Amino acid sequence: MTQQQSIHGEWSSKLAFIMAATGSAVGLGNIWKFPYITGENGGGAFVMVYLICIALVGIPIMMAETMLGRRAKQSPINALKALSQEAEAHENWHYLGWLGVTAGFLILSYYSVIAGWASAYVFKSLSGAFSGQGSAEIKALFEQFVASPLQLTCWHSAFMAVTMWVVARGVRGGLEKAVQFMMPSLFLILLILVGYAMTTGHYSQGLSFLFAPDFSKISGQSILIAMGHSFFTLSLGMGAIMVYGAYLPGHVSISKATLLVAGADTAVALLAGVAIFPLVFANQLEPSAGPGLIFQTLPIAFGQMTAGNVIGTLFFILVVFAALSSSISLIEPMVAWLIENHGFKRSHACWVAGAAAWLLGLGTVLSFNHWSEVKLFGHTFFELLDYLTANIMLPVGGFFVAIFAGWVMLREHSESELEMSPMFYEIWRILVRYVAPAAVFVVFLSVVGVLAP
Ligand code: TRP
Repeated sequence: MTQQQSIHGEWSSKLAFIMAATGSAVGLGNIWKFPYITGENGGGAFVMVYLICIALVGIPIMMAETMLGRRAKQSPINALKALSQEAEAHENWHYLGWLGVTAGFLILSYYSVIAGWASAYVFKSLSGAFSGQGSAEIKALFEQFVASPLQLTCWHSAFMAVTMWVVARGVRGGLEKAVQFMMPSLFLILLILVGYAMTTGHYSQGLSFLFAPDFSKISGQSILIAMGHSFFTLSLGMGAIMVYGAYLPGHVSISKATLLVAGADTAVALLAGVAIFPLVFANQLEPSAGPGLIFQTLPIAFGQMTAGNVIGTLFFILVVFAALSSSISLIEPMVAWLIENHGFKRSHACWVAGAAAWLLGLGTVLSFNHWSEVKLFGHTFFELLDYLTANIMLPVGGFFVAIFAGWVMLREHSESELEMSPMFYEIWRILVRYVAPAAVFVVFLSVVGVLAP
């Protein structure tokens, strides 16, 4: 390729890339979304499908995305343009970049609203709002909070502004520094929460809900949700990891970095589940409570354990930081594209993209109160947006990334970028050429009803 280095800068080291990619992957998807969709889809069997998707579809596609980004060193739209020229393929491939930029933008609009909830909970915890409260009070607290569009909008605005501020500072100044100290701290607090879950008396019930598969509870629909979530949680299918790969200096082992990132991401999600479900059962809550699940369970623990206010405050601070290091990657592809193709200054690109995502986010704010009864196909605005992006756009994006990396790109190019041992390279190639695309295809078919279970 002609370009030696991305015009947006580079990571300072391999570790910085791993941190940033982990920062992107670990976020609300792990701590907020994974537990509630697991609860809604019956537990163990869903978790098993999710883990299989991570291993057979997510990881190979993550390697593919990183590799495409690093080879092209540009934002996804231009990267796909350049790579399809290199492979002498049709230039329509760059529409895949567009799909990704759009998906990231749509996800950011609601992501920021939920991150706003976590921000508000930092202060609730700090002020002792959970102390000694039972599950009914904690639930009421949450319901009152989401009933207020004004409060949700304020927190959503604050979170979006901080995201854009970080992105405006650029690759090294902003993105890299923001992620380095939080991951280990988050891990530690989750361990403390798991420790608390062990004292509830319902620990084993929580564990068996999560890990004992009952396949009668699974449908084509829930398999699609599990697969969609494996893309969402690894930040795949929309170019976030591709753009991070573009900032990766040469000679870094993509495969090892990817395995580390995926491993850390999965560990955080499972720990969150192990911390939450014993609380659900100990307090006779519904596992299928929906998006409010972590906000209705964890505060019970914070209200009862020693130093709960402090631990709760720290926990929500870390969730906000984890969300921030993910949200910056949701908008970076769009920002990089505005800079490359429209000559925007980075700061202007951020304000434009951020303002638009903020506006769309108001739809999500309202779907928890004034618009909660406004439904299309039985779903609120937020649910539709989430479904469309996570379960459709990301898997479609991932499908085409796999096809591009496996079938369009020349073998010698992927081989030289990936630098794996011959055996692992062959495994990767089979996964990315056959297994991952076929899995996405079959799951889609089964939902459309062709193979309806
Ligand atoms: N992976 C993040 C999470 O789990 C969310 C996220 C960040 C994302 N960047 C992405 C999801 C790109 C899909 C695509 O919270």
